[in-house]
Amino acid sequence: MALARKNPTMTKTWSKLQAHFSEIEQQHLRTLFSENLNRANELSLAWDDFYVDFSKNRMTSQTLDLLIDLAEELNLKEAISKYFQGDIINETEGRAVLHTALRADKSLEVFVNSENVIPGVYAVRDKMKTFSDAVISGSHKGHTGKAITDIVNIGIGGSDLGPSMVVEALTFYKNHLNTYFVSNVDGDHYYETIKDLNPETTLFIIVSKTFTTQETLSNAISIREWFLKSMPKESVAKHFVAVSTNVEKVKAFGIDENNIFSMRDWVGGRFSLWGAVGLSISLSVGFNNFESLLNGAKKMDNHFKSSNFEENIPVILALLSVWYNNFFNAESQAVIPYTQYLNQFTTYLQQGIMESNGKSVDRDGNRVNYETGNLIWGEPGTNSQHAFFQLIHQGTKLIPADFIGFKSSLNGNKDHHDKLMSNYFAQTEALMNGKTKDEVLSELQNSGLSASKIDRLVPFKIFEGNKPTTSILIDKLTPESLGKIIAMYEHKIFVEGIIWNIYSYDQFGVELGKQLAKSILSELETGDFINKHDSSTENLLKQYKNQ
Ligand code: F6P
Repeated sequence: MALARKNPTMTKTWSKLQAHFSEIEQQHLRTLFSENLNRANELSLAWDDFYVDFSKNRMTSQTLDLLIDLAEELNLKEAISKYFQGDIINETEGRAVLHTALRADKSLEVFVNSENVIPGVYAVRDKMKTFSDAVISGSHKGHTGKAITDIVNIGIGGSDLGPSMVVEALTFYKNHLNTYFVSNVDGDHYYETIKDLNPETTLFIIVSKTFTTQETLSNAISIREWFLKSMPKESVAKHFVAVSTNVEKVKAFGIDENNIFSMRDWVGGRFSLWGAVGLSISLSVGFNNFESLLNGAKKMDNHFKSSNFEENIPVILALLSVWYNNFFNAESQAVIPYTQYLNQFTTYLQQGIMESNGKSVDRDGNRVNYETGNLIWGEPGTNSQHAFFQLIHQGTKLIPADFIGFKSSLNGNKDHHDKLMSNYFAQTEALMNGKTKDEVLSELQNSGLSASKIDRLVPFKIFEGNKPTTSILIDKLTPESLGKIIAMYEHKIFVEGIIWNIYSYDQFGVELGKQLAKSILSELETGDFINKHDSSTENLLKQYKNQ
């Protein structure tokens, strides 16, 4: 069944939220905390190894109640059932959205067009396990009889960002295999990655859902050419495998059918790391760790499916996002992980969030009259504190931020971890409280400066505070907790899309540039680009050709 179609701004709750917003807009978090001594307990959740504190947001319990009413008025409950049971909720592409089936229990039945998809999911998982075990143990040998030492994942977008982020995030759990990722069509990317590799001991995984993506195929072809300079043609079977839905195209590329790990069209590229696209993960950290990642995601799925909205982490995160986006008009959100292991996490989230919810047409096909998906950005703390935090603290923009931190460090350096986490706690407190004029004055007076200097400096030293943050505090970064974090954001994306009445699972917006690049490429070859473009593009092409 299709998703309901309702303009959120036409709901009864929307007007109530607007009225409530005008009451709360100017309230300072400092006041909200001093007026309600139980606020931190009321506006936080403990679930499994997660503690989510959303009390440092510009809201009250009434805000949350109203946002939940909005979700109910927009049929979120029914939408969640449709999502998990395989309804065709990606209507514009005529597909179900079932990345959750990739981590579901074997006993579950999930039907897409009358086919229970779970046995197929487990068949791919078994094949991944057998292959990963063989490569890791060294029983899968390269053509010359040597064990594989290096893995190169060739893919882009969802066929790169998820696995690349997870492999880095789980470095602590990694085995002896070296793992590399080639994505950009920039020839320097693939060349710099492979130039020192030994083809005899390298395994290439070509990952492309469609197997038509220019970047991936160009890189795969160039890498195969490089490989065949020193290896015979028949060795390709031992060194190249593919992950795709497009078996015919993979075979035409020269890859043996047995070396294909299949995926299905009901998994969107940006949500695909849980299946065959995660082969580089399973190779890098072993299949057991890969399974733990999936189990973590499954636990978050169950939490999301079965918890009341008041206690539902992805639902609350999504509703807060709507609150800031549509009422405070905040244009962006920052995600700041306090662990270097999550260095690529925000880049990965950018595709998940912005490719999904960067839409301006509603489910009826009309231009929306409200804001939808926002910009996502961020870097690990504490590096980001020394880069862009100035703007969050004292700039003119409101930037709600998620702070992700862990109670224990993986390598056990308590001194460093306490320093790291003291920054995690300090920043959200500083963002919330700011520094008042009186506080600045007494600080400057104690420093012994002259009255005129103090007068001059005061305005620059004031921090308004009232900057919203959500603290997500987790016991430890493990494959399982990482699975939960990723699934939490996946469901947040889903809920936002439901509220905004948009289709989150197509991505037609990436097509136009791709088509144009194709025709410009052939014009560059023939030189036939005069009078075919606007004058700016034509001039740029002339400059390029003359260089
Ligand atoms: O960026 C557009 C996109 O279609 C993504 O959605 C997808 O993850 C990526 O290209 C790669 O596509 P494929 O896996 O088919 O090569």
